[in-house]
Amino acid sequence: ISSEKPVNERLKNICELLEAHIPHYNWVGFYFKNGDKNELKLGPYVGEPTDHIIIPFGKGICGQVAVSNKNFVVPDVSAQDNYIACSITVKAEIVIPIFVNGENIGQIDIDSNTPDPFSEEDERFLEFVCEKVASIL
Ligand code: SME
Repeated sequence: ISSEKPVNERLKNICELLEAHIPHYNWVGFYFKNGDKNELKLGPYVGEPTDHIIIPFGKGICGQVAVSNKNFVVPDVSAQDNYIACSITVKAEIVIPIFVNGENIGQIDIDSNTPDPFSEEDERFLEFVCEKVASIL
């Protein structure tokens, strides 16, 4: 990808495209490691505003991915103990880490209002998206 647009605008465009074209993606956003603190900070997103601008490492699905460095697919959020609810309409969530030079620097977070909507195809596709994102950061 080559463009003169600021990175945050390009990330927001990615959120908009994903939310608009994939029916089971209802909230799409990025969280990034907040400087050298052990916490995530909300980046560009599309969907309902969330109160969760800062998420400590280890907390919720996002905070767990920040420490596990692994994809986290949640078919049913109500079955998760360590989960931060943003909206009562959300049924499922997928979080894929973003690596730059092997370091987990953030993630894409997607909420769905459809129960159990995420397949391995979503994982492979979003890993691809995260690689592209890493290349523009
Ligand atoms: N549900 C997430 C919090 C972020 S919101 O979905 C926007 C979690 O448990 O980490």
